[in-house]
Amino acid sequence: MTWQATALTLFPDMFPGTLGHSLAGRALERGIWSVEARDMREYGLGRHRVVDDTPFGGGAGMVMRPDVVAAAIADIDLAGRPLVYPTPRGRRLMQADIRRYAAGPGVVVLCGRYEGVDERVLEASGAEQVSIGDYVLSGGEVAATVLLDACVRLLPGVMGSGESAVEESFSDGLLEYPLYTKPAQWDGRDVPEVLLSGHHAAIAKWRRAASETVTQARRPDLWAAYQVVTGQDISRTA
Ligand code: ADE
Repeated sequence: MTWQATALTLFPDMFPGTLGHSLAGRALERGIWSVEARDMREYGLGRHRVVDDTPFGGGAGMVMRPDVVAAAIADIDLAGRPLVYPTPRGRRLMQADIRRYAAGPGVVVLCGRYEGVDERVLEASGAEQVSIGDYVLSGGEVAATVLLDACVRLLPGVMGSGESAVEESFSDGLLEYPLYTKPAQWDGRDVPEVLLSGHHAAIAKWRRAASETVTQARRPDLWAAYQVVTGQDISRTA
């Protein structure tokens, strides 16, 4: 069964875009997943196919009309797929969400432009509002591409034995350990000795310690959650 992605967008040419290349592109050619871009302009009003209007209450920019967006959504066979709306106002998109989407039949992604979409159609459609980070993009298409890329690489048969989703960042609540390859000496810098030793247990131990060090330094939020999960939470013992 093909994993089906649908993008509702005013810029259908942006799909598959970068997803037509490399790992996702090969999976697309092999029929592991598909992507259909639906042009919301086709549901626009009048001869000029208007899709947006000024915000009630005033303010800058334009808002996508609920009737136009609803007509575009109504024309799609969701077939059990979640409707996802990328927006900086959404809850943070997590690897757990990606795993959930990848495990289902696919996703429908509503890509906003201008200042965003009228709130009522988001409510009425039950769209999941997700943010890919605390910065503002010029539209939802790039965020949709990020979401789809993260899903596609998890689909069965996409990653070969050479690429693994088991030992990567977030799989165990930690950031991944640093990676090294040949040459063993480069520009006066050595690869950590233990990685050249061939001692698998010692390597695993070094990698775990390195993961913990980098997570503690760069992501105190992940580190705090990891401490709780592994029962090493000392924050409450005082
Ligand atoms: N659209 C614009 N900015 C976004 C963000 N940070 N996350 C998701 N969708 C967006």
